[in-house]
Amino acid sequence: MTTRLVVPRPYRLDVHPIGPGEQGLAEDARAGLSASPKSLPPKHFYDERGSDLFERITRLPEYYQSRSELSILTRIADGLVARHGVSELVELGSGASRKTRALLDAMRDARSLGRYVPFDVCPEAILAAAGRLAEAYPGLDVHGVAGDFDRHLPGVPERGRSGRRLIAFLGGTIGNLEPDARTPFLESVAELMEPGDLLLVGTDLAGDPGRIQPAYDDAEGVTAEFNLNVLRVLNRELDADFELDAFAHVALYDPGPPWIEMRLRSLADQVVRIGALDMDVEFAEGEEMRTEISCKFTRPAVDDAGLVLEEWHEDARGWFAVSLARRP
Ligand code: SAH
Ligand code: AVI
Repeated sequence: MTTRLVVPRPYRLDVHPIGPGEQGLAEDARAGLSASPKSLPPKHFYDERGSDLFERITRLPEYYQSRSELSILTRIADGLVARHGVSELVELGSGASRKTRALLDAMRDARSLGRYVPFDVCPEAILAAAGRLAEAYPGLDVHGVAGDFDRHLPGVPERGRSGRRLIAFLGGTIGNLEPDARTPFLESVAELMEPGDLLLVGTDLAGDPGRIQPAYDDAEGVTAEFNLNVLRVLNRELDADFELDAFAHVALYDPGPPWIEMRLRSLADQVVRIGALDMDVEFAEGEEMRTEISCKFTRPAVDDAGLVLEEWHEDARGWFAVSLARRP
């Protein structure tokens, strides 16, 4: 018997090994849960549920970042695409690809709509977005890559021969990298570029903690659910027995770096079993495990990576910036 899959519009998705059988989550959990203080890398928030929760975060009144960035992209997209002849868009951490539409609209209007490459650790997010975009932009070649941008960037398809490639890294996701990891990461991104190609980076700007902190501790508790989601991922993927009620969401603004640190605070002395790792992890009451940093910038570190910072655009309130860098 044959099964017919109904595919409304053609697009392609390459999936790199990111599951629990591969090193990623198991290794990160083993290392992070045996360290002192404990920590987990933020990429593990984003299973299908985590990606949906992040989408809900972007609509919260407290989370200004997405609206600020969209206002900038809407303002600059036409000029950027026309000036540089952009025909290919590669987006790292593309998620639901919603703000991306400002760039794709500009490419369509300039009649240079070639290819879109959404790259994300969450294949479900890419599939949903790819379907919507292939439908909304007839003629657009959508080639998704599901993978970890720390390891699988070489899996980005070869650059097209005509026109320029624009690599977008939006949302402020660069702020979720450890500061030491930023330059090596940008160097690996530069490998995907040829002279004249461009990198567009969104950064949340340092400023009033009274604006920044509530964006990570919303009244509805969506960010708390997002934070706790990493424990659900560990329970499912590594056969762990975290009780979500036994941990509380913490969002701390640290003016030093400056960054927001998300943590999970243990509400009791407890031992958690991680079955797949044959590991028992002790938490003391009040102990905090770091689950994310979100750096706030004055100017991104693109210069250090050998890229030339060409343009810097802020939203009307000076809360968020989008910068454009070129490979010399
Ligand atoms: N760009 C979107 C989504 C930002 S959320 C926006 O601005 O709204 C961060 C995105 O990066 C998520 O979709 C998440 O799955 C992805 N991501 C996080 N760490 C990643 C990694 N190491 N490799 C690939 N994608 C990653
Ligand atoms: C994806 N990233 C830029 C978000 C941020 O603001 O650091 C993730 C997030 N964490 C809590 N809320 C949103």
